[in-house]
Amino acid sequence: MPLFQPTVPPLPSSLSFAGKTAVVTGANAGLGRAASLHLAQHQISTLILAVRTQKTGEETKAALLADPVVGALQTKPTILIFELDLARPSSVGSFAAKIVAEVPTLNILLLNAGLGGVKWRTTPETGTEIMFQVNFLSNAMLSVRLLPLLRSSAERSGSKSYICTVGSRAQPLHSYTRKPVPDTVDVFAFINDRANFGLERYSDSKVLVSMWVRELAKRTDPAVVTVNNVCPGMVTTNLNDKQPWYIRIPVNLVFAIRARPAEVGARTLINAVSAGPESHGELLGDYTVWENKFLKTEQGKKMQGRLWKETLVAAEEFAPGSVQAAKLEG
Ligand SMILES: NC(=O)c1ccc[n+]([C@@H]2O[C@H](COP(=O)([O-])OP(=O)(O)OC[C@H]3O[C@@H](n4cnc5c(N)ncnc54)[C@H](OP(=O)(O)O)[C@@H]3O)[C@@H](O)[C@H]2O)c1
Repeated sequence: MPLFQPTVPPLPSSLSFAGKTAVVTGANAGLGRAASLHLAQHQISTLILAVRTQKTGEETKAALLADPVVGALQTKPTILIFELDLARPSSVGSFAAKIVAEVPTLNILLLNAGLGGVKWRTTPETGTEIMFQVNFLSNAMLSVRLLPLLRSSAERSGSKSYICTVGSRAQPLHSYTRKPVPDTVDVFAFINDRANFGLERYSDSKVLVSMWVRELAKRTDPAVVTVNNVCPGMVTTNLNDKQPWYIRIPVNLVFAIRARPAEVGARTLINAVSAGPESHGELLGDYTVWENKFLKTEQGKKMQGRLWKETLVAAEEFAPGSVQAAKLEG
Protein backbone atom coordinates (compact mmCIF):
# COMPACT_ATOMS: atom_id res chain seq x y z
CA MET A 1 0.00 0.00 0.00
CA PRO A 2 1.68 3.27 -1.08
CA LEU A 3 1.93 5.97 1.58
CA PHE A 4 0.02 8.48 -0.51
CA GLN A 5 -2.93 7.82 -2.78
CA PRO A 6 -2.78 8.98 -6.40
CA THR A 7 -4.52 12.20 -7.37
CA VAL A 8 -8.08 11.83 -8.62
CA PRO A 9 -8.55 14.19 -11.56
CA PRO A 10 -11.47 16.61 -11.36
CA LEU A 11 -14.66 15.68 -13.18
CA PRO A 12 -14.86 17.08 -16.71
CA SER A 13 -16.69 20.41 -16.73
CA SER A 14 -18.60 19.15 -19.80
CA LEU A 15 -20.10 16.27 -17.79
CA SER A 16 -23.87 16.74 -17.68
CA PHE A 17 -26.66 14.66 -16.21
CA ALA A 18 -29.35 16.96 -17.58
CA GLY A 19 -32.63 15.14 -18.17
CA LYS A 20 -31.63 12.24 -15.91
CA THR A 21 -32.97 10.87 -12.65
CA ALA A 22 -30.65 9.34 -10.05
CA VAL A 23 -31.15 7.54 -6.76
CA VAL A 24 -28.30 7.84 -4.24
CA THR A 25 -28.47 5.66 -1.14
CA GLY A 26 -26.79 6.92 2.03
CA ALA A 27 -27.07 10.39 0.52
CA ASN A 28 -26.97 12.30 3.80
CA ALA A 29 -23.34 11.66 4.75
CA GLY A 30 -19.81 11.05 3.50
CA LEU A 31 -19.43 9.82 -0.07
CA GLY A 32 -23.17 9.68 -0.76
CA ARG A 33 -23.67 13.32 0.14
CA ALA A 34 -20.60 14.40 -1.84
CA ALA A 35 -21.74 12.35 -4.85
CA SER A 36 -25.20 13.93 -4.58
CA LEU A 37 -23.58 17.37 -4.71
CA HIS A 38 -21.53 16.42 -7.79
CA LEU A 39 -24.70 15.19 -9.50
CA ALA A 40 -26.54 18.39 -8.60
CA GLN A 41 -23.63 20.55 -9.79
CA HIS A 42 -23.58 18.60 -13.07
CA GLN A 43 -27.23 19.38 -13.88
CA ILE A 44 -29.01 16.22 -12.75
CA SER A 45 -32.73 16.86 -13.31
CA THR A 46 -34.16 14.74 -10.50
CA LEU A 47 -32.17 13.52 -7.51
CA ILE A 48 -33.70 11.06 -5.08
CA LEU A 49 -31.97 11.07 -1.72
CA ALA A 50 -32.47 7.63 -0.17
CA VAL A 51 -31.94 8.18 3.55
CA ARG A 52 -32.91 6.66 6.86
CA THR A 53 -34.85 9.65 8.14
CA GLN A 54 -36.80 12.45 6.48
CA LYS A 55 -35.07 14.99 8.74
CA THR A 56 -31.52 14.17 7.59
CA GLY A 57 -32.82 14.14 4.02
CA GLU A 58 -34.30 17.63 4.42
CA GLU A 59 -31.00 18.93 5.85
CA THR A 60 -29.05 17.46 2.93
CA LYS A 61 -31.54 18.80 0.39
CA ALA A 62 -31.23 22.31 1.86
CA ALA A 63 -27.41 22.10 1.82
CA LEU A 64 -27.36 20.91 -1.81
CA LEU A 65 -29.66 23.71 -2.95
CA ALA A 66 -27.60 26.26 -0.99
CA ASP A 67 -24.42 25.30 -2.86
CA PRO A 68 -23.29 28.27 -5.01
CA VAL A 69 -22.66 26.14 -8.12
CA VAL A 70 -26.11 24.57 -7.86
CA GLY A 71 -27.61 27.99 -7.10
CA ALA A 72 -26.11 29.40 -10.30
CA LEU A 73 -27.68 26.72 -12.52
CA GLN A 74 -30.42 27.92 -14.84
CA THR A 75 -32.52 24.86 -13.99
CA LYS A 76 -32.27 23.69 -10.39
CA PRO A 77 -32.59 19.95 -9.71
CA THR A 78 -35.76 18.52 -8.28
CA ILE A 79 -34.66 16.86 -5.05
CA LEU A 80 -36.88 14.22 -3.48
CA ILE A 81 -36.40 12.41 -0.20
CA PHE A 82 -37.35 8.75 0.05
CA GLU A 83 -36.86 6.82 3.27
CA LEU A 84 -34.76 3.67 3.09
CA ASP A 85 -33.32 1.48 5.82
CA LEU A 86 -31.26 -1.25 4.18
CA ALA A 87 -31.21 -3.25 7.42
CA ARG A 88 -35.00 -3.73 7.14
CA PRO A 89 -36.29 -5.75 4.21
CA SER A 90 -39.74 -4.17 4.79
CA SER A 91 -38.20 -0.73 4.18
CA VAL A 92 -36.30 -1.98 1.12
CA GLY A 93 -39.57 -3.37 -0.26
CA SER A 94 -41.53 -0.16 0.41
CA PHE A 95 -38.76 1.94 -1.09
CA ALA A 96 -38.61 -0.14 -4.28
CA ALA A 97 -42.42 -0.08 -4.58
CA LYS A 98 -42.47 3.71 -4.16
CA ILE A 99 -39.84 4.15 -6.86
CA VAL A 100 -41.74 1.90 -9.27
CA ALA A 101 -45.05 3.65 -8.52
CA GLU A 102 -43.89 7.27 -8.46
CA VAL A 103 -40.73 7.58 -10.57
CA PRO A 104 -41.42 7.30 -14.30
CA THR A 105 -37.75 7.27 -15.35
CA LEU A 106 -34.69 6.03 -13.50
CA ASN A 107 -31.28 6.37 -15.14
CA ILE A 108 -28.84 5.93 -12.24
CA LEU A 109 -29.05 3.69 -9.19
CA LEU A 110 -26.06 4.56 -7.02
CA LEU A 111 -25.99 2.03 -4.19
CA ASN A 112 -23.57 3.82 -1.90
CA ALA A 113 -24.86 3.23 1.65
CA GLY A 114 -22.83 0.81 3.69
CA LEU A 115 -21.24 0.15 7.02
CA GLY A 116 -18.21 -1.47 8.60
CA GLY A 117 -17.77 -3.16 11.94
CA VAL A 118 -15.91 -5.83 13.84
CA LYS A 119 -18.73 -6.96 16.12
CA TRP A 120 -21.47 -9.47 15.33
CA ARG A 121 -24.71 -7.54 14.84
CA THR A 122 -27.95 -8.73 13.33
CA THR A 123 -30.85 -6.99 11.63
CA PRO A 124 -34.10 -6.44 13.57
CA GLU A 125 -36.53 -8.10 11.17
CA THR A 126 -34.66 -11.15 9.90
CA GLY A 127 -31.77 -11.67 12.32
CA THR A 128 -29.34 -11.54 9.40
CA GLU A 129 -25.74 -10.43 9.96
CA ILE A 130 -25.93 -6.69 9.33
CA MET A 131 -22.99 -6.10 6.93
CA PHE A 132 -24.14 -9.02 4.78
CA GLN A 133 -27.65 -7.50 4.69
CA VAL A 134 -26.80 -3.81 4.23
CA ASN A 135 -23.65 -3.96 2.09
CA PHE A 136 -24.71 -6.86 -0.10
CA LEU A 137 -28.16 -8.42 0.13
CA SER A 138 -30.41 -5.35 0.23
CA ASN A 139 -28.45 -3.83 -2.66
CA ALA A 140 -28.93 -7.00 -4.66
CA MET A 141 -32.67 -6.97 -3.88
CA LEU A 142 -32.94 -3.34 -5.03
CA SER A 143 -30.99 -4.10 -8.20
CA VAL A 144 -33.40 -6.91 -9.15
CA ARG A 145 -36.52 -4.90 -8.32
CA LEU A 146 -35.40 -1.76 -10.17
CA LEU A 147 -33.70 -3.37 -13.17
CA PRO A 148 -36.88 -3.36 -15.33
CA LEU A 149 -37.35 0.38 -14.73
CA LEU A 150 -33.67 1.08 -15.46
CA ARG A 151 -33.96 -0.94 -18.69
CA SER A 152 -37.19 0.69 -19.86
CA SER A 153 -35.78 4.14 -19.03
CA ALA A 154 -32.72 3.43 -21.18
CA GLU A 155 -34.83 2.13 -24.04
CA ARG A 156 -37.13 5.16 -23.95
CA SER A 157 -34.36 7.74 -23.66
CA GLY A 158 -31.81 6.04 -25.92
CA SER A 159 -29.21 6.58 -23.21
CA LYS A 160 -27.88 3.74 -21.05
CA SER A 161 -28.71 3.40 -17.36
CA TYR A 162 -26.37 2.46 -14.51
CA ILE A 163 -26.43 0.29 -11.43
CA CYS A 164 -23.32 1.14 -9.45
CA THR A 165 -22.60 -0.29 -6.00
CA VAL A 166 -19.87 1.19 -3.86
CA GLY A 167 -17.37 -1.59 -3.21
CA SER A 168 -13.89 -1.68 -1.79
CA ARG A 169 -10.31 -2.66 -2.58
CA ALA A 170 -10.14 -3.98 0.99
CA GLN A 171 -11.38 -7.24 -0.58
CA PRO A 172 -8.02 -9.11 -0.36
CA LEU A 173 -8.47 -9.08 3.44
CA HIS A 174 -11.46 -11.45 3.02
CA SER A 175 -11.76 -14.71 4.98
CA TYR A 176 -12.94 -17.09 2.25
CA THR A 177 -9.49 -18.50 1.40
CA ARG A 178 -8.65 -19.07 5.04
CA LYS A 179 -12.10 -20.43 5.74
CA PRO A 180 -13.80 -21.65 2.53
CA VAL A 181 -17.57 -22.12 2.40
CA PRO A 182 -18.05 -25.92 2.50
CA ASP A 183 -19.96 -27.53 -0.40
CA THR A 184 -22.45 -28.93 2.09
CA VAL A 185 -23.50 -25.55 3.52
CA ASP A 186 -25.35 -22.74 1.72
CA VAL A 187 -23.30 -19.57 1.29
CA PHE A 188 -26.03 -17.52 3.01
CA ALA A 189 -26.20 -19.95 5.95
CA PHE A 190 -22.41 -20.01 6.29
CA ILE A 191 -22.18 -16.22 6.42
CA ASN A 192 -25.05 -15.95 8.87
CA ASP A 193 -23.47 -18.42 11.25
CA ARG A 194 -21.81 -16.46 14.04
CA ALA A 195 -19.02 -19.04 14.21
CA ASN A 196 -17.86 -17.84 10.79
CA PHE A 197 -17.85 -14.14 11.68
CA GLY A 198 -14.54 -12.35 12.01
CA LEU A 199 -12.73 -9.06 11.62
CA GLU A 200 -12.72 -9.66 7.85
CA ARG A 201 -16.49 -9.33 7.50
CA TYR A 202 -16.46 -5.88 5.90
CA SER A 203 -14.07 -7.16 3.19
CA ASP A 204 -16.13 -10.36 2.89
CA SER A 205 -19.27 -8.32 2.20
CA LYS A 206 -17.52 -6.33 -0.52
CA VAL A 207 -16.31 -9.56 -2.18
CA LEU A 208 -19.96 -10.64 -2.35
CA VAL A 209 -20.84 -7.32 -4.00
CA SER A 210 -18.19 -7.87 -6.69
CA MET A 211 -19.35 -11.46 -7.27
CA TRP A 212 -22.95 -10.33 -7.65
CA VAL A 213 -21.98 -7.49 -10.00
CA ARG A 214 -20.04 -9.92 -12.19
CA GLU A 215 -22.99 -12.29 -12.49
CA LEU A 216 -25.60 -9.56 -12.98
CA ALA A 217 -23.47 -7.99 -15.71
CA LYS A 218 -23.43 -11.29 -17.63
CA ARG A 219 -27.22 -11.00 -17.99
CA THR A 220 -27.39 -7.29 -18.75
CA ASP A 221 -26.50 -5.51 -21.97
CA PRO A 222 -24.02 -2.75 -21.03
CA ALA A 223 -25.44 -0.57 -23.80
CA VAL A 224 -28.77 -0.67 -21.92
CA VAL A 225 -27.80 -1.00 -18.24
CA THR A 226 -24.12 -0.82 -17.24
CA VAL A 227 -23.52 -2.66 -13.97
CA ASN A 228 -20.34 -2.00 -12.02
CA ASN A 229 -18.88 -1.40 -8.58
CA VAL A 230 -16.38 1.20 -7.52
CA CYS A 231 -13.84 1.73 -4.76
CA PRO A 232 -13.24 5.39 -3.93
CA GLY A 233 -9.96 4.77 -2.11
CA MET A 234 -9.46 5.78 1.50
CA VAL A 235 -11.82 8.67 2.18
CA THR A 236 -12.48 10.74 5.28
CA THR A 237 -16.11 10.02 6.22
CA ASN A 238 -18.06 8.73 9.22
CA LEU A 239 -17.37 5.10 8.28
CA ASN A 240 -15.00 4.39 11.19
CA ASP A 241 -16.76 6.51 13.80
CA LYS A 242 -18.66 3.63 15.37
CA GLN A 243 -15.71 1.23 15.58
CA PRO A 244 -14.27 0.31 18.98
CA TRP A 245 -11.37 2.56 20.04
CA TYR A 246 -8.71 -0.09 19.33
CA ILE A 247 -9.74 -0.04 15.66
CA ARG A 248 -10.75 3.62 15.38
CA ILE A 249 -7.51 5.14 16.72
CA PRO A 250 -5.03 3.31 14.41
CA VAL A 251 -7.40 3.59 11.44
CA ASN A 252 -7.84 7.31 12.00
CA LEU A 253 -4.06 7.75 12.17
CA VAL A 254 -3.65 6.08 8.77
CA PHE A 255 -6.60 8.07 7.41
CA ALA A 256 -5.04 11.32 8.66
CA ILE A 257 -2.07 10.65 6.39
CA ARG A 258 -3.68 8.94 3.41
CA ALA A 259 -7.40 9.68 3.15
CA ARG A 260 -9.02 11.83 0.52
CA PRO A 261 -11.73 14.36 1.28
CA ALA A 262 -15.23 13.09 0.46
CA GLU A 263 -15.55 15.49 -2.47
CA VAL A 264 -12.47 13.93 -4.09
CA GLY A 265 -13.43 10.31 -3.33
CA ALA A 266 -16.95 10.90 -4.65
CA ARG A 267 -15.55 11.84 -8.05
CA THR A 268 -14.87 8.13 -8.54
CA LEU A 269 -18.56 7.35 -7.92
CA ILE A 270 -19.58 9.93 -10.52
CA ASN A 271 -17.05 8.53 -12.97
CA ALA A 272 -18.53 5.04 -12.39
CA VAL A 273 -22.07 6.22 -13.22
CA SER A 274 -20.84 7.68 -16.48
CA ALA A 275 -18.20 5.03 -17.31
CA GLY A 276 -17.91 3.09 -20.56
CA PRO A 277 -18.56 -0.62 -21.22
CA GLU A 278 -15.08 -1.54 -19.90
CA SER A 279 -16.50 -1.06 -16.40
CA HIS A 280 -19.36 -3.55 -16.95
CA GLY A 281 -19.14 -6.31 -14.33
CA GLU A 282 -15.96 -4.83 -12.92
CA LEU A 283 -14.72 -3.07 -9.82
CA LEU A 284 -13.29 0.32 -10.65
CA GLY A 285 -10.46 1.32 -8.33
CA ASP A 286 -10.61 5.10 -8.61
CA TYR A 287 -11.09 5.45 -12.41
CA THR A 288 -9.66 2.16 -13.72
CA VAL A 289 -10.59 -1.52 -13.55
CA TRP A 290 -9.12 -3.30 -10.53
CA GLU A 291 -8.84 -7.06 -10.24
CA ASN A 292 -9.50 -9.23 -7.20
CA LYS A 293 -7.48 -12.34 -8.03
CA PHE A 294 -9.64 -14.52 -5.76
CA LEU A 295 -12.58 -14.09 -8.13
CA LYS A 296 -10.54 -15.69 -10.93
CA THR A 297 -9.68 -18.82 -8.90
CA GLU A 298 -11.73 -22.03 -9.18
CA GLN A 299 -12.84 -21.56 -5.57
CA GLY A 300 -13.88 -17.98 -6.20
CA LYS A 301 -15.77 -18.82 -9.39
CA LYS A 302 -17.60 -21.68 -7.71
CA MET A 303 -18.60 -19.53 -4.75
CA GLN A 304 -19.76 -16.78 -7.11
CA GLY A 305 -22.04 -19.21 -8.96
CA ARG A 306 -23.52 -20.50 -5.71
CA LEU A 307 -24.01 -16.99 -4.37
CA TRP A 308 -25.82 -15.96 -7.56
CA LYS A 309 -28.28 -18.86 -7.32
CA GLU A 310 -29.00 -18.28 -3.65
CA THR A 311 -29.45 -14.55 -4.17
CA LEU A 312 -31.99 -15.12 -6.93
CA VAL A 313 -33.94 -17.45 -4.64
CA ALA A 314 -33.86 -14.72 -1.98
CA ALA A 315 -34.99 -12.11 -4.53
CA GLU A 316 -37.93 -14.26 -5.58
CA GLU A 317 -38.94 -14.79 -1.94
CA PHE A 318 -38.54 -11.08 -1.29
CA ALA A 319 -40.60 -9.98 -4.30
CA PRO A 320 -42.35 -12.83 -6.13
CA GLY A 321 -42.12 -12.42 -9.91
CA SER A 322 -39.20 -9.96 -9.68
CA VAL A 323 -36.58 -12.36 -11.08
CA GLN A 324 -38.66 -13.04 -14.18
CA ALA A 325 -39.52 -9.35 -14.56
CA ALA A 326 -35.80 -8.54 -14.45
CA LYS A 327 -35.13 -11.27 -17.07
CA LEU A 328 -32.64 -12.97 -14.76
CA GLU A 329 -34.01 -16.51 -14.94
CA GLY A 330 -31.74 -19.26 -16.23
N1 LIG B 1 -14.65 5.92 3.46
C1 LIG B 1 -13.86 5.06 2.86
O1 LIG B 1 -12.62 5.11 2.99
C2 LIG B 1 -14.46 4.00 1.97
C3 LIG B 1 -13.59 3.20 1.21
C4 LIG B 1 -14.12 2.22 0.37
C5 LIG B 1 -15.49 2.07 0.31
N2 LIG B 1 -16.31 2.83 1.08
C6 LIG B 1 -17.76 2.63 0.97
O2 LIG B 1 -18.37 3.85 0.70
C7 LIG B 1 -19.75 3.79 1.07
C8 LIG B 1 -20.16 5.04 1.79
O3 LIG B 1 -19.49 5.08 3.03
P1 LIG B 1 -18.85 6.39 3.65
O4 LIG B 1 -17.40 6.18 3.70
O5 LIG B 1 -19.40 7.59 3.00
O6 LIG B 1 -19.37 6.24 5.15
P2 LIG B 1 -20.41 7.10 6.02
O7 LIG B 1 -20.00 8.52 6.09
O8 LIG B 1 -20.54 6.33 7.30
O9 LIG B 1 -21.75 6.99 5.19
C9 LIG B 1 -22.47 5.79 5.12
C10 LIG B 1 -23.86 6.08 4.65
O10 LIG B 1 -24.58 4.83 4.60
C11 LIG B 1 -25.79 5.00 5.32
N3 LIG B 1 -26.25 3.77 5.94
C12 LIG B 1 -25.62 2.99 6.85
N4 LIG B 1 -26.44 2.00 7.24
C13 LIG B 1 -27.59 2.13 6.55
C14 LIG B 1 -28.82 1.44 6.52
N5 LIG B 1 -29.06 0.38 7.31
N6 LIG B 1 -29.79 1.87 5.69
C15 LIG B 1 -29.60 2.95 4.90
N7 LIG B 1 -28.48 3.69 4.91
C16 LIG B 1 -27.48 3.27 5.73
C17 LIG B 1 -25.47 6.04 6.39
O11 LIG B 1 -26.69 6.61 6.85
P3 LIG B 1 -26.76 7.35 8.29
O12 LIG B 1 -26.11 8.67 8.10
O13 LIG B 1 -28.23 7.39 8.56
O14 LIG B 1 -26.02 6.51 9.27
C18 LIG B 1 -24.62 7.00 5.61
O15 LIG B 1 -25.40 7.90 4.86
C19 LIG B 1 -19.89 2.50 1.88
O16 LIG B 1 -20.47 1.50 1.06
C20 LIG B 1 -18.46 2.15 2.23
O17 LIG B 1 -18.29 0.78 2.43
C21 LIG B 1 -15.82 3.80 1.90
